[in-house]
Amino acid sequence: MTTKSLTDLSWDDFDEVRDPRPADTEFDAVVERAMSRRGFLGGVLAFGSGAAVFGTSALTPLGARAAASGAFPFEPIGIATDFDIHVPAGYQWSTLVRWGDALFADAESAYSPETGVSIGMADRVFGENTDGMELFEVDGREIIAVNSEYVNPGINLPAASDGIPANADEVTLLKKLQGVTVMEVAKGATGYAVVLDSPYTRRIHHDTPMRMDGPAAGSDLVKTHADPEGRSPLGTMNNCGSGKTLWGTYLTCEENFNGYFGATGGYAETEGLSRYGIGGESRYAYEKHDPRFDLSAEPNEPNRHGWVTEIDPADPASIPVKHSALGRFKHENAEMVQAADGRVVVYMGDDERGEFIYKFVSSGIYGEGGSTEGLLSDGTLYVAKFNDDQTGEWLALTPETTGMALDEILVFARLAGSKVGATTMDRPEWIAAHPARAEAYCALTNNKNRGVKANAGGDAQPVGGPNPRETNNYGQILRWRPAGGDHGATGFDWDLYVMAGNPAVYDNANAGSANVTEGNMFNSPDGMAFDSTGLLWIQTDGDYSNEGEFAGQGNNQMLVGNPDTGEIARFLTGPYGSEVTGLCWSADRRTAFVGIQHPGGSWPDGIGKPRSSVIAIWRTDGATIG
Ligand code: FEO
Ligand code: CA
Ligand code: CA
Repeated sequence: MTTKSLTDLSWDDFDEVRDPRPADTEFDAVVERAMSRRGFLGGVLAFGSGAAVFGTSALTPLGARAAASGAFPFEPIGIATDFDIHVPAGYQWSTLVRWGDALFADAESAYSPETGVSIGMADRVFGENTDGMELFEVDGREIIAVNSEYVNPGINLPAASDGIPANADEVTLLKKLQGVTVMEVAKGATGYAVVLDSPYTRRIHHDTPMRMDGPAAGSDLVKTHADPEGRSPLGTMNNCGSGKTLWGTYLTCEENFNGYFGATGGYAETEGLSRYGIGGESRYAYEKHDPRFDLSAEPNEPNRHGWVTEIDPADPASIPVKHSALGRFKHENAEMVQAADGRVVVYMGDDERGEFIYKFVSSGIYGEGGSTEGLLSDGTLYVAKFNDDQTGEWLALTPETTGMALDEILVFARLAGSKVGATTMDRPEWIAAHPARAEAYCALTNNKNRGVKANAGGDAQPVGGPNPRETNNYGQILRWRPAGGDHGATGFDWDLYVMAGNPAVYDNANAGSANVTEGNMFNSPDGMAFDSTGLLWIQTDGDYSNEGEFAGQGNNQMLVGNPDTGEIARFLTGPYGSEVTGLCWSADRRTAFVGIQHPGGSWPDGIGKPRSSVIAIWRTDGATIG
């Protein structure tokens, strides 16, 4: 395996190639391979119905099999396979910002289709591979905080024949093109645009000074030569999904951070490293030019990544804070809600095959306008266990339940979750909480190893419960309702909102649940957010070949789901090659901002390399859009 081919792999495949899963495991669970399409949910009840789905017509909340029928304020669109974006009639879109576009006036000509962006300008332009984003109203201005998840070296280092950094300067260039952008946007005569030189604008990247707080701050596990106190890490990386606190700050989530660390010599291969897929050769060769990323020199540096980081978009001088109390894993997003007693609850998924869903519950209580001190620093981390009878419980990760010290629990949350018997999931992506009732949804994007192999820690991945499909190539959306309508409760009930699938190809479990039709089908749900009207927006990051078992599904897309009827309708199709990820709304809700990551061809300009971009979408009649 050459270094170049590592960079070309998906993050999913990168883990599998470099850190193969344990050998095939025998499962005791019964795999119901030949169940009928209606029956394959096998005993899963739908909320709102008192009867089992299996063999009955009681799938009502999940299964209103129909095209959108007044449930949505738009006419659903068909699939697309081209290099363009499509939205429903009555809607328009434009590009808000592309990677390489200036955030400051001195960077207006920084981007070149031939050479990309220079090192000196790399943190003065919009970064690459846009992902999670949130909009904040600050002093009457609109500020968007948005992640740049990773880079495509072949695009960002066009002069490098193999796309791999050849020296420290090229590593610096890549570091500065990733991380987070905080930028002001404003609506002018031609629509929304970035406000150049706004006092709020800043770029936060792999070298930005940060602070770590919570129980793992100062732990021996996070001390390095550069930071012997273990409280001042540098940078946030592979920032995938996002979240917004109740007090108006941004939460950015470090996901596939493991791919940035390698070893130039010997290093201690530990359970903590292997469970997180860290070791050997990195994806970007940082370790060859910056000893911080070299396990042979700094074995604890990876422990300073994989956290949720809080950024105050209203204060460009603020130091971002890595909240160790929320645990370290491949964070997708961070969905904050409030418990009935006022404690803060953060739901979080760990996106890897067979990893877990977590929630953090603060010790303190939040009141609007009150102190937020310590709310994300002190609390309890829980991991989810799903029972086949559609109940579940949040298992506290404490020294008593795990036999681990508290700093170990947080730094190696996956190991702690395994110790208490958490449920291995089909790659938890975004979690979204319903705005009007205590209900949360999690996109389980896919899992080719379900029923086939254990996870990286050797935990079995049996078919069943909320992961009911062997070799799950399409994904599903799980939802749960906390006991007593209280997000602070440790018990919950769960069901499946949708099982994605392809009813044009299959007439079995792979056809999906009854609310999947040939008119709305998709695979690999990923980004999700509720709008203010209670509709669930679903973005996909899946197979866009439009062939074989994905025939008829076209490019990645964005759909809208009605959580009450189960109906799902396609709203947008992305350009070929892209993933649709990241969604927020303007203050007046008349514009939606949507991220288009790793597009193909030369989208959107038609010249040079493709440019990951954020687009704005609005209704031509000027009405709100969610
Ligand atoms: Fe960056 Fe799990 O998506
Ligand atoms: Ca994602
Ligand atoms: Ca994904």
